[in-house]
Amino acid sequence: MRIGIFDSGVGGLTVLAAIRRRLPGVDLLYLGDTARVPYGGRGARTVKRYALECAQWLVDQGCDHVVIACNTASAYGVEAVRSACSPLPVTGVVFAGAESAASAAGAEGPILVLATRGTVSSQAYLRALNETLPARQIRQRACPLLVPLVEEGWPSGDVLDGVIDHYLSDLLRPTPAALILGCTHYPVLKEHLAKRLPEGLPIIDSSEAIAETLEAMYPDARVGAGHTRLCFTDDPEASRAAIQTIYPAGLSGADQVKLA
Ligand code: DGL
Repeated sequence: MRIGIFDSGVGGLTVLAAIRRRLPGVDLLYLGDTARVPYGGRGARTVKRYALECAQWLVDQGCDHVVIACNTASAYGVEAVRSACSPLPVTGVVFAGAESAASAAGAEGPILVLATRGTVSSQAYLRALNETLPARQIRQRACPLLVPLVEEGWPSGDVLDGVIDHYLSDLLRPTPAALILGCTHYPVLKEHLAKRLPEGLPIIDSSEAIAETLEAMYPDARVGAGHTRLCFTDDPEASRAAIQTIYPAGLSGADQVKLA
């Protein structure tokens, strides 16, 4: 059993790590499209094309399941990837995160979604949340500065605090019911963010949500060798520092690959 996971770059390593914790026995193949990152500010058609190319590469490597770890790629491309990969199962991070938020949010209060510009414009979280909570207010905010702060290794400090307050200060009234970390990089900031949010607010880590979904699908995948292979479309050395910040297990054995 081999699960293929793709992302626009290195942020999806948060998803890889969460899946590895829950499914220690499964083989994981990670593809980070570092040659074309970021996806978050690109248009829908471009992101969809990139997503299809990444998914096809994973299928060509013999993966049995494709996971779209990138929120932006999942927001714009999940349906296209699903039909291209059929009959292989495809799971996107957006739906998993929305499902988890819907069950964590109490009876009232808006659900907040922090994400890239692309994910926000796609309205994918909004649609997914509305399936379960049709009348609930959803407040979305694009937070483009958070990705470079994580990649530069600044997961705390005054600069980060200023950026968080800038993005969040007008979203905290009325009191929200849950907050979705709708971008691969944000789980790195979870603990720090929690300190600046109302106490007890459920923070939905979409990397954990998708790992939970997979664990439910593959209950036997706890046993096995559990090989991990990391592949990137640019030289992995160029992303060494960011990889180390997000995935301390590190770079060893990472390969550069070319998509067809
Ligand atoms: N992986 C992207 C996401 O989760 C964030 C980085 C990017 O903009 O490519 O939306």
